[in-house]
Order: sequence, then structure tokens, then C-alpha cells
Amino acid sequence: MAEHPATVTGRPDRTGTPPRVRIDADTGTVVLNTPRTCYVLRVDRAAHTVLHVHWGAPLPLDDAALLPVWADHDDSFSGRLDGVEEYPVDGGRRFAAPALEVRFADGSSPLEPRVDHVTEAEPGHLVIALHDRTRPLAWELHYRVPPDGDVLERWTEFLHTGRPGDDPVLLIRYASAHWPLPQRPAGPRLSSVHGAWAAENRLRRTPLPVGETVLGSRRGHTGHDAAPWVALDDGSAGEESGEVWLAALAASGSWRITVQHTAAGRVGVIAGEGHEGTELSLAPGRRHTTAVTAALHTSGGFGEASRAFHTHLRGRVLPHPDELRPVLYNSWEATSFSVTEDNQLALARKAAELGVELFVVDDGWFGARDDDGAGLGDWTPHRQRFPRGLRPLADEVHRLGMGFGLWVEPEMANRDSELFRTRPDWVLHLPDRDATELRRQLVLDLSREEVADWVLDRLRDIVRENAVDFLKWDFNRSFTEAGARGRPDGRYPHVHHARAVHRVLDRLRAEFPHLRIESCAGGGGRIDAGMLARTDQVWPSDNTDAVDRLAVHHGFTQVCPPGVMTAWVTDSPNPLTGRTVPLRFRFHTAMAGVLGIGGDLARWTGTALEEAAEFVALYKDVRPVVQHGRLHRLLAPGEGPLTAVQYVDRAAERCVVLVWRPAAGFAACRTPPPPLRLHGLDPDARYRDEDTGAQWSGATLGAFGLPVPDLGAGDHASALVRLRRV
Ligand code: GLA
Repeated sequence: MAEHPATVTGRPDRTGTPPRVRIDADTGTVVLNTPRTCYVLRVDRAAHTVLHVHWGAPLPLDDAALLPVWADHDDSFSGRLDGVEEYPVDGGRRFAAPALEVRFADGSSPLEPRVDHVTEAEPGHLVIALHDRTRPLAWELHYRVPPDGDVLERWTEFLHTGRPGDDPVLLIRYASAHWPLPQRPAGPRLSSVHGAWAAENRLRRTPLPVGETVLGSRRGHTGHDAAPWVALDDGSAGEESGEVWLAALAASGSWRITVQHTAAGRVGVIAGEGHEGTELSLAPGRRHTTAVTAALHTSGGFGEASRAFHTHLRGRVLPHPDELRPVLYNSWEATSFSVTEDNQLALARKAAELGVELFVVDDGWFGARDDDGAGLGDWTPHRQRFPRGLRPLADEVHRLGMGFGLWVEPEMANRDSELFRTRPDWVLHLPDRDATELRRQLVLDLSREEVADWVLDRLRDIVRENAVDFLKWDFNRSFTEAGARGRPDGRYPHVHHARAVHRVLDRLRAEFPHLRIESCAGGGGRIDAGMLARTDQVWPSDNTDAVDRLAVHHGFTQVCPPGVMTAWVTDSPNPLTGRTVPLRFRFHTAMAGVLGIGGDLARWTGTALEEAAEFVALYKDVRPVVQHGRLHRLLAPGEGPLTAVQYVDRAAERCVVLVWRPAAGFAACRTPPPPLRLHGLDPDARYRDEDTGAQWSGATLGAFGLPVPDLGAGDHASALVRLRRV
């Protein structure tokens, strides 16, 4: 790669669009241009670092080259550049959280960076290479500006530059990037989601305190209690307006996002895999490439930030973004572990009559799996429940016109399994500690190659032997006893295990191109762009209560598109919460994403089955708009009596509005609610309500709003409105 280029590189193309990367060699200024934003940094060779200048609305390179860097005042206590560096390391005059912290064999840590070169390695891909002045470590900062959209991608590569026989370098913090935010006068606000099993994705917006706010997971998987993304604004952004910066990390194992707010007022986000106790040992000649972190700036509020991210995930991450996800049936809430050929056949026949397109047999079909205490690891059909194997069931499901899906939890073993009896050393454990059982199971150590290979072999067998079209890939417990000591390779498994899961998924997909996969981890315990790149949909929560789900969906769609969000209609009262909710409301909630049915159809009345078939047909009609359209969250759950969302297709031809009123109450029913002001419609076009025939112009629907349909009296009222351009 060339040294620092001598001139300004990057010229507008014939359409006049500014180049994605421009480098001004005289000042070291680099401008990354997206259609609506620009990101400016400066390579400061005197200071031996890369400084952040601007991230927001576009500005010309000539100006960018002159803009000052926001350094702190100079005294013997200040880290002048804390919060301003593109990739702060531990060392020298730096006192804020580092993106990179290492330990060399002599026990020392501080790094002394030097800049090697700055290059546009290929169109839209900037590489800034650095190395330590005296120690054998080099690192490259990678920036990718995709050809469309405002989302930037960053990652870092580390290289041990020593000779064979040299000591390894321990990477203690090895973040993908630091995303510094530009200076703004008002106090910053942080948006993120938090939660727990069955209560994932609760959106939280709080002023950002001065100091370090850390989100993350030490669990070996992404986790239910936080998701690897944050949004920041100056406290004034709303759903459809205001500046928002959103950063997400593709981390399927342990991770940490540190949102820093220095006393000098700088705000930045350091995002990376790993947490405390997950050091990586880098041997001479070896490289480590971090996960990708993607981020954007928008002036269009939280809603636009979400839509831009959905577009990014659909355009650059999801494997089959143009497919429509099928309506599925899942057996878990109906038959639990007691699946048999007969009860699944009975359910499959009813499901097919409803219009279901994919029939998924959940837990209980394999090994000696009569409850959660046995069978994980033994991936052959349960002998008593499926004496003829699964093939007759799969064939009948196919004959009924549906795809055949199976639940698997390939990264686990029960003590009571043939696998554990023959390979007790394959589970995460420490020689002098008891292996903690959670849900009566242990985690297989996929960071060991032979274990990951075995998992891949089993999955191959399962898919091939049972004519499987779809896998629900589950993961039902966090890591424990996952230390490095006593392990064959002396490595902490957290990051390596997650990478191995990715590799197994990649191989499986490559070998079975027809196979579609749903990612699940006791609900939403492992949802991130790393998994979304390898799966087709995700199960956001084991909580199927149609009211609770509104909040889960609200948090989920902040970053992930509705087209990957599986939601089932289950029985009422809900088995988890005991809440009684009418079928209509349950369907409307599940139709907000990828519709599934999870109730015990054997117990549904004829009327319920008829109604359900109508809802399935209606869903198939609106599905392209819901799964592939642009989402506008009109009214957030819990903020007023109504919750409402709008989907509009990319051509603004069709629009779907869903509105829910979970609780009636006098105040909610006394006066009609204000109209719902819609977004993204063509103001000059007219739109017809496909059910009532009423017509409105796009302008009216935006300015005055859509009158809320009569929801009647009583709790759990809901409606779906379909508008089509006349
Ligand atoms: C997890 C999943 C559920 C179900 C059970 C089966 O909890 O999230 O949907 O598959 O496992 O044991």
C-alpha cells in the first residue's frame, strides 16, 4: 500500500456525486461521504494519531481541511485529545476509556502509536495503518462507505509483527471502533434497550451522565439484558425529527459498548467484542479482525435512524432480503416437550387449513428428551415418540403444502445424554470447579475445532435425513466456568465460540442453499447483525402475550426490521401471563412482523379457526408492505392509551396501519383519539381505504391524519387499516 498520497484523491463521478472517500494529503484530512452525511477525520502525523473532526450534514472538503479539532485545554492533568481520537489506545497522555489495551510479555501496557499510511484500498474502503513505535504490534483502522445509504461500517485488524518464537501479545480491550460525536451545545441523551428473559427490548431514553456508561454482556452470547446498539441525540430529537447518531455492533458473543461523556463535554461510543476476562492472545504473525460496527447520523429523528438501519441490514446484511417470510406454525406452546408423530400430524393438518406455509416441530423430538433434563446432544429422533423417525411426518407436512422445520439447540449438552457420557470434556468447564448447570444443561465449547466440526456434522445429518427446510436454532443458557486456565488452547472461549457459531452457520447455509434459519436464544438472547447475516428471522421473546409484545416490538424495531421479527398468535389466557386477549388483538400484534401461530389448534373452536384463516389471508395480503416496507412508529406503547405503527411500501403505493388500545378506561374511550398523521405517502396521490372505501389524499393523511377507526368499548381493542393509491 502506498504511503500518504501526495494530492487530494477522489473525484466526483459523472453524476456529480461526491466520491465516497476523499483524502487531502496536505492536511491529512479525510472526508467520507454518504448521500446525506459526511464524516471527517484528520491524520495528525505530529501527534501520531487520527483525530475526529465532524460527523453530520455534508460539507465541502476545502472547509473540512480547515476545521479545528476539538481539543481540551492544556494542563498537566488533561488528556487533551480524550474523546477526540478515532481509535484511542491505552498509553501516553490518555485518560479516557481506550479502544485498544494490550499487555506485552514483560507486563507493560502503554502503546505508542505511529501512523504508517492512509489509503483507499478499494472504492469506499479507507484503511489507516498504525503500529507501535517499539513493540511488535500493528493495527489497521478500516472504514467502509457503502455505495448507498448513510450507514458507515468500521472494524480493526491487529497483527503481531514479531518473529516466530516471540512472546504473544495479550489483547485486553480490542474494540472495533470509537465513534466520536461532534460537539453540540445541549446535554446528550442516550437511547438503548434493556430487559430480561421474556421482557426483552424495553426502550430507555435517559440523559447521558458524565463518565462511562457501559452496556454489554459477559455471558458468551449477546444477552437479554441489553442489545449491542446505542442511539444518541441532544435531548431534542423525536420520532420523525432531530439529529440522531446510532451505532450498532455485530457481536454474537460477549461484548461491550462504552458510551463516554467526558467532563470536557465530548461524547463517543466505543464498541467491541469481549468484556472483562476475555483477553485474546495474539501469537507472532497472527492477525485478529474485530467484528464490524455500523453507525449513522440522521437529521430525521429516531424513526429515520431505524429506517436507515433497516435498509442497511436488508441491503448489506440479511442473506435473503427480497424473500417474503412464510407464515409459520410452531408447536412449543401447544405440545411442549410432548411432541409425537400423531399430535404433530393433527396440528399440521389444522395449520395447513389455516393457510400456514411452514410447520415447525419445536423441542422434544430427539434423544431421550422427555423434559429439559435429557437429550441435548443426541440429535436422532426420539424412539418412542417417533418410532418411524421424522421422515413420515416431514413427508406429510410437505404433502400438505408446507415447509418442514425443526428446533435444534446444537451448542448444548445435557449430562443425561450419550454425547456427554462419551465426551464429558467437550463442555465448558474448569478442572477444579463444578460445572454449573442452567436449565439442566451445559454449553459445548465450540471454540474447539473438533467440537464445532461435530456440531456441523450433526446439523448436516438432521437436515438431510429429515428433509428439513427450516431450523429454529436455539441457545438457552449463558456461559459459566469459561476461563482460559486448563483449556487445551489456553484461550477464553467467549469470542471464539461466537465466531465458531458463525462459521458453522455459514457452512450449513452454503451446503443447503434452500435451508432457512431462525435464530433464538431463550427468546431474544442473541440478536445482532452477526446472527442476522446468517439467519433469516429471529424470535424476539418467549413472551407471546399480545400486549407485552407491543413494547418488545417497539424496542426491537429500533434497529431490526419487522421483516425478521417472528411473532406468534398463542392461546388465551396466555400461558405465561394469564392475560385474556381476543383473537383479533393477538393477530394484529403478531401481524406487525413475521406472522406465526403457536396456539394449541386442537383446542381452538371452529369459529376461532375460521377467524384465524381470515387473518392469515389478510396477513398474506399486507405482508409485502409489513415485511419489506418502511416502518413509522406513530404512537409508542405505554405513552398514551393507543399504540400505532404504519408501514408504507417503497413506491408509496400501499400503506398499512395497525392500532391497538390495550386498556379501555374512561379517559381512553370518552373522546375519539386524535387522527394518526401518516408519513411517506405521496401528497398528490389519493389513497383508498381497502375495507371501507373511504378516500383521502396523501397530503391530508400527512397534515390532518387518518381518523382512528372506531375501536368500540372494552379492553384489547385493535384495528388494521389498508390504504392503496387510487
Ligand atoms: C426456548 C425458546 C422457546 C422454545 C424452548 C424449547 O425457551 O425460546 O421458544 O423453543 O426453548 O425448549
